[in-house]
Amino acid sequence: MAKKRQKFHTKLCDVLGIEYPIIQAGMGGFSDPPLVIAVSEAGGLGTLGAAVYTADGLDVAIREIRKGTKKPFAIDILLPDSLDDMAGVDKAKLREYIAPEYLEYEKELRKKFGVPTDYHTQRKVDMWTMEGTKRMLQVCLDNKVPVIAAGLGRLGWVMPECKKRGIKTIGIGANVKMALKHVEDQCDVIVAQGYDAGGHTGNIGTMSVVPQIADAVKPIPVAAAGGIADGRGLAAALALGAEGVWCGSMFLLTPEATFTEGQKDRVIAATERDAVITKGLSGKTMRQLRTAITRAWDQGPLPPLGWPLHLILMEDVIDWCYEHKDQKYYDEMIVTPCSQATRLLNRRRTSKQIIDDMIKEAIAVIEGFPKKVQFA
Ligand SMILES: Cc1cc2nc3c(=O)[nH]c(=O)nc-3n(C[C@H](O)[C@H](O)[C@H](O)COP(=O)(O)O)c2cc1C
Repeated sequence: MAKKRQKFHTKLCDVLGIEYPIIQAGMGGFSDPPLVIAVSEAGGLGTLGAAVYTADGLDVAIREIRKGTKKPFAIDILLPDSLDDMAGVDKAKLREYIAPEYLEYEKELRKKFGVPTDYHTQRKVDMWTMEGTKRMLQVCLDNKVPVIAAGLGRLGWVMPECKKRGIKTIGIGANVKMALKHVEDQCDVIVAQGYDAGGHTGNIGTMSVVPQIADAVKPIPVAAAGGIADGRGLAAALALGAEGVWCGSMFLLTPEATFTEGQKDRVIAATERDAVITKGLSGKTMRQLRTAITRAWDQGPLPPLGWPLHLILMEDVIDWCYEHKDQKYYDEMIVTPCSQATRLLNRRRTSKQIIDDMIKEAIAVIEGFPKKVQFA
C-alpha cells in the first residue's frame, strides 16, 4: 500500500488547489514544462516562466504540461509598466531607440568576449512589446490555464477575462505599495518578494517585507519569497504571516530545471556574496551570479538602459554565451540568476525530494518550538 503523505495544509492550498503551500516561482528560461510538471506532481504549484517564449511556443508548452500533469500549474508573464509606452512599436523599431554610444559599447563587448560582429541570435521572444505580451496572455486565456502570475507589473486590465474563466491570479510585490495595487486588481494570491531573491528583485529584505505586506493585504493569502530554500524558511514564512512560499533558486539544481550542469556547479560553489544585484542584463535590478558581463556594466562607462532596450542591446552577447555553453569560458558568462541563500543550494536533488524535505523540515521546526522555547 502506498505510504500516506504528510499533511501540511494552509489557506494558500485551498485557493490554488494544491497539496503543499509551495509555489515554484516563474523563472524565464529556466522553468519549462519538465520542472512545472515535476513540481505540480509533487504537490506544489509548478510555474512556467514565459519570458523567453513566443505565443505559439507557449501554446505548445501548455499542452505539454497538460499531458504531464492533471494538477494545477501557473504561467508567469512579465508586464512591466514601460511596455505601455511601447504600444504599437515592434522589436526592430525598438533598436532605433538605442543611442549610438550604447551600440558602440556593445561592439566593444563583442570584441572583448569574442562574439563575432555578424552574429545575431535567432531566438524569438514575444514579450518585448505590448502586442506580443497581449498575444501571450490570450494564449493563457484560450487555454484556460489554472493560474496566471504577473512576474513584473499588474494584471488589472486582463483580470475580468481571468475571472470569467475561473483563472486564479498571482501578483508579485516587493513593497506594500505594489502589493496594494494587486489588491486593487483583485489578485487571489500576493507574493511578498524580498531583496534576497534571485532574478528581478526589490530592495527590502524578506524578513522586513513579508509581515508588512501580509498585514497590508489581509485577508488575501501571501506567499513569501526571497532566499527561502528549506523547511526553516517555510516555517519562518508562516511565522511572518505568510500562508506559503514562492521559491525559485531552490529548484535550479534539479534535473527538471533548464539549467546547465556548469551553472549548477557554479551555484553549488558560490558563497552568499556571489549573487549580486546588477542592471547589466535586463536594465532592471536583478540578482545573479557575478560574471564578466555584469562587471562590464556595473563598472563600465555607461549606465544600463531601461527595460526592454537593455535586453535587446545585450541579447546577441547573452545568447552567444548560451549557445557556446560547452566551452567553460562562455559557460561562466551565462546569465545565472540566484538568491543570496547560495550556501543552502548545495546539492542536486529532484523537485519531489526538495518538496518532501522542505515539508519534513518545516514540521520538525514547528514541532520543535516547545522544546526550544520555554514559555513558563
Ligand atoms: C533563475 C531565475 C530566473 C527568474 N526569472 C524570473 C522571471 O522570468 N519572471 C519572474 O517573475 N521572476 C523571475 N525570477 C524571480 C522569481 O520568480 C522569484 O521571485 C525568486 O526566485 C524568489 O526568490 P528565491 O530565488 O530566493 O527563491 C527568477 C528567479 C531566478 C532564480
